[in-house]
Amino acid sequence: MSKVTLSVIKADVGGFVGHSSVHPNLLAAAKDHLETRGKGLLTDFHVGHVGDDIELIMTHSLGVDNEDIHKLAWDAFLAATAEAKKLKLYGAGQDLLSDSFSGNIKGMGPGVAEMEFEERTSEPVIVFMADKTEPGAWNYPLYKMFADPFNTAGLVIDPKMHKGFDFEVHDLIEHKKVVFHCPEEIYDLLVFIGAPGRYCVKSVYSRTLGEIAATSSTQRLNLMAGRYVGKDDPVMIVRCQSGMPAVGEALEPFSKPHIVAGWMRGSHHGPLMPCGAREAIPTRFDGPPRVVALGFQLCGGKLIGPQDFFADVAFDRARQIANEMADYFRSMGPFEPHRLGLEELEYTTMPDVLKRLAGRLVPIE
Ligand code: 13P
Ligand code: 13P
Ligand code: MG
Ligand code: MG
Repeated sequence: MSKVTLSVIKADVGGFVGHSSVHPNLLAAAKDHLETRGKGLLTDFHVGHVGDDIELIMTHSLGVDNEDIHKLAWDAFLAATAEAKKLKLYGAGQDLLSDSFSGNIKGMGPGVAEMEFEERTSEPVIVFMADKTEPGAWNYPLYKMFADPFNTAGLVIDPKMHKGFDFEVHDLIEHKKVVFHCPEEIYDLLVFIGAPGRYCVKSVYSRTLGEIAATSSTQRLNLMAGRYVGKDDPVMIVRCQSGMPAVGEALEPFSKPHIVAGWMRGSHHGPLMPCGAREAIPTRFDGPPRVVALGFQLCGGKLIGPQDFFADVAFDRARQIANEMADYFRSMGPFEPHRLGLEELEYTTMPDVLKRLAGRLVPIE
């Protein structure tokens, strides 16, 4: 049996208007590029967006980290950037850190989540895409999906899930990784992933099936660029059913909005609001941060879908809670923890203010 690779590669190459959404011309340019240049490379593709980020959802048989696929995505983003520049859209080319492609799109700005697997008799997958947040935003929902029996009934009652899952966690500062075997190591796991600004769940593996179950983008653009260039609005792929979480178990963690970093100027905490693709246009204070979930059935590598899960009325209440949380956070204005801690701020006037006050800063007796 041949394997299928699902590659989700995303970038913000210009916002319409401000950082709120993507102009249709950019989506058309990206689609057109994949349609014409992806011939012979791609089995299928879908171009989506959440807020100002474009997601290229692609299937093929070339494996992860394939240079041709990465170059195809890079060039699609360049084509969209050209449209963004024509329309003078905000932050045109924002996430493309280099002028020329160098073999692997990772480290060049765009976010990448890819997995290769043998397509099962039926292969339901969900592509989660978020805006105004960072890769660590997936830690909480991934923990709930794959390690919390109060979220995922299958962990208790499905013989194919009962042995648990392995979590591969990356330290984004020191560039190290470690695998935790769960459930027995959940306390160790939580010490790390409870700090989502530094430790991110990269992938999850089924211990029963010995197969990849989920993977996420873990790029930290700002660390790569060494300057503020926007947040690393992340993507994630989750395989569902038959030994993986049911679709509803994968969606359930988003029914209670958790607090993520990345709102306004990449410098504020706020609730992650689940919403349908059409509602994924962050407005209030450039937010609140959004997450969209697109479901597909794979069929010989073809993407049958999408199903726009969070458009469902069952998530209305989560949106209402997120709006209430947003009111509360906003009332704190420039105070932490609405504003991020000093070391996490994307933007700061602190060095300038300190310099100006240098003569007035005197030791306390
Ligand atoms: P600028 O207007 O200086 O780009 O910053 C505001 C913003 O939107 C942050 O990305
Ligand atoms: P993006 O990272 O989505 O471009 O948002 C920038 C921002 O901080 C808007 O306030
Ligand atoms: Mg932007
Ligand atoms: Mg964005």
